[in-house]
Amino acid sequence: IPVSLIGVPTDVGAGTPGARMGPDALRVAGIVQAIAHFGVEVRDCGNLSGPGNPDLPAVNGFRHMREVAAWNRSVHDAVHAELHAGRLPIMLGGDHCLAIGSISAVARHCRETGKSLRVLWFDAHADFNTASVTPTGNIHGMPGAFLCGYGPSLLTEIGGHVPAILPQDIRQIGIRSVDDGEKRFLAEIGIEVFDMRYVDEVGMRETMEQALAGVASDTHLHVSLDVDFLDPEIAPGVGTTVRGGPTYREAQLCMEMIADTGRLRSLDIVELNPALDLRNTTAELAVDLVESLFGKSTLMRLHG
Ligand code: ARG
Ligand code: MN
Ligand code: MN
Ligand code: MN
Repeated sequence: IPVSLIGVPTDVGAGTPGARMGPDALRVAGIVQAIAHFGVEVRDCGNLSGPGNPDLPAVNGFRHMREVAAWNRSVHDAVHAELHAGRLPIMLGGDHCLAIGSISAVARHCRETGKSLRVLWFDAHADFNTASVTPTGNIHGMPGAFLCGYGPSLLTEIGGHVPAILPQDIRQIGIRSVDDGEKRFLAEIGIEVFDMRYVDEVGMRETMEQALAGVASDTHLHVSLDVDFLDPEIAPGVGTTVRGGPTYREAQLCMEMIADTGRLRSLDIVELNPALDLRNTTAELAVDLVESLFGKSTLMRLHG
């Protein structure tokens, strides 16, 4: 299945600016060539455009709501068009607010084609805050809530269907920083969270087997990869680092197990902040993970 890269150079949803430079850092790290290497046709669609970052304080619990909505209308349309054309869209982020547009488009496409949806959300954070419980007003901490239908219509209605997804469509992996009100909300609506405590206790293999349970031939698998999922020692180029994340091999294993399903149909790579990175190492690490998503296993390399 051919791939389309969609640059989303925004950080209007983040607290620290810099993620707007993420798309080019991923290109410089060789994402096009890395995917093309596997014989996949890759088209770089360039960057979407949208409002700049006005760096304003929160209004009614939200920072930059209008800017976030404008970006996500573009993301939604671009992602839906690529899916409709039978392609696998990869978002080069950009902060995690872009998942509002991408996942609403994926969900819409699933409804149109009768597919079932599974979202794997790799992140240090749950990103399920609402205006009343957010400690920051930063919308990159809220996309999960909007996608499940909780929030202002400007952000919940982007895909034309409210809610865009159901709590049971999503699995979160690697979580280790959840705000108080957010914890209550996750439990209330029944989001399945495999937090780092769980990964420590049962291991990444068992965690991923559970996160992928039920994925079938008619499943559209969407991966939303927040780079802060990774341990900050290997991935320093993010604005919201949290200690105690997965190692390089644990993260690779996640991607390899997804590749084995053959069901990956869309991907967000978000929160990469080149202004905080060290010699583009975090971008290069993200590209390594993408290679594994496309089937670069140790065994296949040995056999050329
Ligand atoms: N929970 C915190 C907040 O709401 C941090 C969210 C970080 N999200 C992210 N996509 N990096 O502000
Ligand atoms: Mn469609
Ligand atoms: Mn995060
Ligand atoms: Mn996130």
